[in-house]
Amino acid sequence: MNQPPVIAIDGPTASGKGTVAMHVANHLGFHYLDSGALYRLVALASQQNGISPSDYGALGELALTMQIEFKNGLVFLGNLDVTEAIRDESIGVLASQIAVYPEVRDALLALQRGFRRSPGLVADGRDMASRIFTNALLKVFLTASVEARAERRYKQLIAKGISARMNVLLQDLQERDARDIQRATAPLKQAEGAYLLDTSKLSVDQAVEQVLSWYQVASRK
Ligand code: DC
Repeated sequence: MNQPPVIAIDGPTASGKGTVAMHVANHLGFHYLDSGALYRLVALASQQNGISPSDYGALGELALTMQIEFKNGLVFLGNLDVTEAIRDESIGVLASQIAVYPEVRDALLALQRGFRRSPGLVADGRDMASRIFTNALLKVFLTASVEARAERRYKQLIAKGISARMNVLLQDLQERDARDIQRATAPLKQAEGAYLLDTSKLSVDQAVEQVLSWYQVASRK
């Protein structure tokens, strides 16, 4: 049976992959999976339930049983709207820490694959191409220099009225990169067959156009 097509977009934190993925999905009328949000949800739920960041058994169980919903651009944990809460930097850091455990990653496997629905899916994360959707029609590794990413994150935070320091952001990004790249299970890397897209000097529109043109070529094959 023909499965709906998937565009897998992986890359490091603050690379802009979420924005690009969402635009591509909107353009094609595809569904969108922000897999990082799932790890962030486990992180937030673990905090709410007082589960230690090192208790991988309990974290895996939590990832299997947590009640989540994505609706009209909002994210719910149980009945609670946590759209903003999961974007907090501290939750991002905790998500990266708990994402090293195979128990957590395995628990989220079926949930992520369930997002593959007609007419298609754009999925963004770290291991979309290498593990979750290995038969994706198009695989993209989207990155940018650490300086460009820190600057983007800085502007985002300031725009939200949150104070930020460039040197702290740079260090935080470097630490998260190192953890995501060095972990034993499903590390962040350019998957075989993935196109490399460096967006350091590209606008969002230019990056979206590039992905769409690769997709056109891939879907003609
Ligand atoms: O993309 P993000 O910053 O929202 O992701 C938060 C953390 O979740 C990231 O630092 C590592 C983890 N993650 C992962 O391990 N695998 C994914 N597919 C997506 C996110």
